[in-house]
Amino acid sequence: MHVVILDEQAVGRHLGRSIRDGRGHVLLRAGTRLTPTFVTALRERGYRTVYAVNELAPDIAVDDALREETRARATQLVRATLEAAAGAGRLEVAALRKVVDQILTELQGRSDTAFSVATLRSVDEYTFVHSVNVCLYSAMLGTALAYDHATMRNLALGALLHDIGKVNYADLVRRSGPLTPEEFAAMQQHTADGYEMLRTHEGIDLLSAHMAYQHHERLDGSGYPRGLKDKQILPFARIAAVADVYDAMTGDRPYKAAMPPHEAMAVALEQAGSKLDAYLVRQFAQRIAVYPAGTIVTLNDRRIAVVTGQTDLGPTCPRIRILTDEAQRLAPPTEATIGGKLAIHGVLKDYPAAVRRQVASRTAG
Ligand SMILES: [Fe+2]
Repeated sequence: MHVVILDEQAVGRHLGRSIRDGRGHVLLRAGTRLTPTFVTALRERGYRTVYAVNELAPDIAVDDALREETRARATQLVRATLEAAAGAGRLEVAALRKVVDQILTELQGRSDTAFSVATLRSVDEYTFVHSVNVCLYSAMLGTALAYDHATMRNLALGALLHDIGKVNYADLVRRSGPLTPEEFAAMQQHTADGYEMLRTHEGIDLLSAHMAYQHHERLDGSGYPRGLKDKQILPFARIAAVADVYDAMTGDRPYKAAMPPHEAMAVALEQAGSKLDAYLVRQFAQRIAVYPAGTIVTLNDRRIAVVTGQTDLGPTCPRIRILTDEAQRLAPPTEATIGGKLAIHGVLKDYPAAVRRQVASRTAG
């Protein structure tokens, strides 16, 4: 399975993962063949990309640190919470804690050496999926810091609600183009607004509230809203900052296509020590699968392969299935592990045209 852009090229592909609406109901089931009508309808709903079945490796599923139902429930709850917050209603802290506990249980139950997180989302549900992913990434970092259970719960809840202040800027959030400097300045207040909403709320720890306030602060003082520096930025907020920038880079925005995970990680590593906490970024890089299952790669000898899973050697050494020879002609698949002489040269959005033609003629014949 891999990510395909929703254009003419996607027609005829089979969906690798079910697509759900904002209420969690399935719109299109996994396995559905994409018609031009489906492609148009999905684009109208704000999807730019979908997971498609990989014709050359149909057995490879999207790997996500969360079960599909848990992710759907968490996303829905964040949506309901933010809608309630916009109406100045109380937050359903008990329900939020329940979903946070479920997320923590699922994360701790996994034996993966490198975590994969499903990064696709529609433009409309961006903030909700983003909140769930920031929660997941923060919890992974909390585990790396050996936080106790009570601390983990406060960390994960604060991460889930870190952008709650955005409810006050709904029209700017929905905007499909870049913001003017005035609008951007207004939007920056989502941090202080979120803090105000959370800091006196029953059942929410003050440190969790500070994640909303400080998640855009940067170690060198270049962040907002207060331009805090170094030790002024609390550990929870440093964690949220790493989780937030990484997920923002790997998600599609109306004005910017998603960055592949290995590129987003390179950017995060570049910012380690200057803007982001260096120790946290290193821990993060050791735990996140930058070549998740389904990623199509070229090898250093020009052969084409698809990533099938992760190994104990770390996120940069995934298991692969080599599909072509060095002239990029389809060959009997061979399983291998990246390392030694075998290196990843680059990541491809899709198989090269020559390979696609061979697949097409093979299925036609
Ligand atoms: Fe934010």
